[in-house]
Amino acid sequence: MKNGKKHKKNKKNVLAGILIIIVIFVAVFLIASFVRYKIINDQAVAYVNLEKEITTIYTKGKDIWLFDNTYDMIKEQNLSLVISTEKYMVQIANEDITSKMNVDINIVKDKNIEDYYSIAVSGNRLAELKINTAYFFKDKEYVSLYQVADENKILINNCIKIQDEYSSVELGENVNSYVLAYVVPSEINVEDTVIDRGIPTKLNIGTEYTNGTVNIECEDKEAIEIDEKLNIIGKKAGEYKLKITTSNVSKEIVLTIRPTVEKIEVDKTTLSLVVDANTTLTANVVPSDSVNKEIAWTSSDESIATVDNNGKVIAKSPGNCEIIVKTTTEPIIETKIPVEVKEKPKAPEVIQLGSNIPGATYVNGILLVNKNHSIPASYAPGLNQTVWEAFIELKEDAAIAGHDIQLLSGYRSYATQESLYNNYVATYGQEEADTFSAKPGTSEHQTGLAMDVGWIDDAYGETASGKWLAENCHKYGFIIRYPKGKEDITGYKYEPWHIRYLGVDIATDVYQSGLCLEEYLGVQ
Ligand code: DAL
Ligand code: ZN
Repeated sequence: MKNGKKHKKNKKNVLAGILIIIVIFVAVFLIASFVRYKIINDQAVAYVNLEKEITTIYTKGKDIWLFDNTYDMIKEQNLSLVISTEKYMVQIANEDITSKMNVDINIVKDKNIEDYYSIAVSGNRLAELKINTAYFFKDKEYVSLYQVADENKILINNCIKIQDEYSSVELGENVNSYVLAYVVPSEINVEDTVIDRGIPTKLNIGTEYTNGTVNIECEDKEAIEIDEKLNIIGKKAGEYKLKITTSNVSKEIVLTIRPTVEKIEVDKTTLSLVVDANTTLTANVVPSDSVNKEIAWTSSDESIATVDNNGKVIAKSPGNCEIIVKTTTEPIIETKIPVEVKEKPKAPEVIQLGSNIPGATYVNGILLVNKNHSIPASYAPGLNQTVWEAFIELKEDAAIAGHDIQLLSGYRSYATQESLYNNYVATYGQEEADTFSAKPGTSEHQTGLAMDVGWIDDAYGETASGKWLAENCHKYGFIIRYPKGKEDITGYKYEPWHIRYLGVDIATDVYQSGLCLEEYLGVQ
């Protein structure tokens, strides 16, 4: 029994021994394969073909860890290392590397790569890695290459497209900071010395980065600003002497800062329109010689108001929106004009002055006299008393504002209009006369509600007095009856002097609508 047990125990020991041998064998085998492949990638495929001149490592998995033997081989065989990866950090991890590495690293963009690439050196594990050339091929410019601080360092002789924003560098245990890898330029050679005001521009000084001690000094301290990426931001247009100094070289250049738009001035700061009304905004860029003076107009809500390339705003439906005018190229400067669109006012059904004229046309109670709507020859009311009083009030207020507005022509009888019109026809011919003089029976002057004031000349509208009249006559019940831009609708040339009485409410509505009377009434 005892022997039997012992025998069994021996058997167990033998089995355990065999098991241990197997485990050791497998472990040795694993280590061997570990050594053989040189690359451990715990999830993805990593493949090295050292037979070829170029070693390729390709992975779509997690981080790739390159062990020292790989580098030794690369170094011994004088190979290039090409790393093609997708989104993952390539870490160079080595417990023992003490030898100096001397490799070229190409990070080649994969079609699917859309994020970032980086090379990070895993802190304390690396003594010194010398990267001769690091090329980064990708669409975005954001490529990072970091140097581990203190005694661990990467020397980079020549880096192309290196960018300094990267947040997830993994550092070794003993390293708790990293710094950018810099290149010390051997000479400063500024190719382009013309920049546009307000646009951060990197002066190409022969290399992307220096050892961090670049000093750029401008003769006018207010002319430029330099950001942390060594971009120069022009603040004032002009030509300035600039001194660029690095740790070992220095150069003086003349920097030209071209003017760019600082603001866009628009002739109106707000707009209030009724549906279907339109107005044209005029914008000017400041300074006028800006290199980016092209501007574009947009509406924040085209269902409320639209705007075209010329700043013409058309009110579409009631509501509020903004008309935005902005530069089409950097620096983007914009000006917004708040727009209020109101319902088209319904003219109140009130009987206006000049009512009950037989055969005359009334729209919502408003007497309409134009080329298509006449009044009878027999209607001869004289100048309306209310209209006269309104004009006197207007005239007095205009005088306070410094304008002498005289009445030049008020009521005209059919006969007066007839002789006036005939004289014009005799002098200018009928076609031209019809553009500024009404045929007898179709002149508003015959209603006693219209008058010519100020100065009978196209230029009157541009005078201070003419402008005051246009901007204020509605407060006294008048409108400028034949406005500029509405010639096709009214049938007459612009007459900044001809005012028509409608009463304060309707005149104000018409004024605010931006419409001429025919448009306002919705008739021709
Ligand atoms: N000048 C205007 C049109 C008139 O003759 O009534
Ligand atoms: Zn007139």
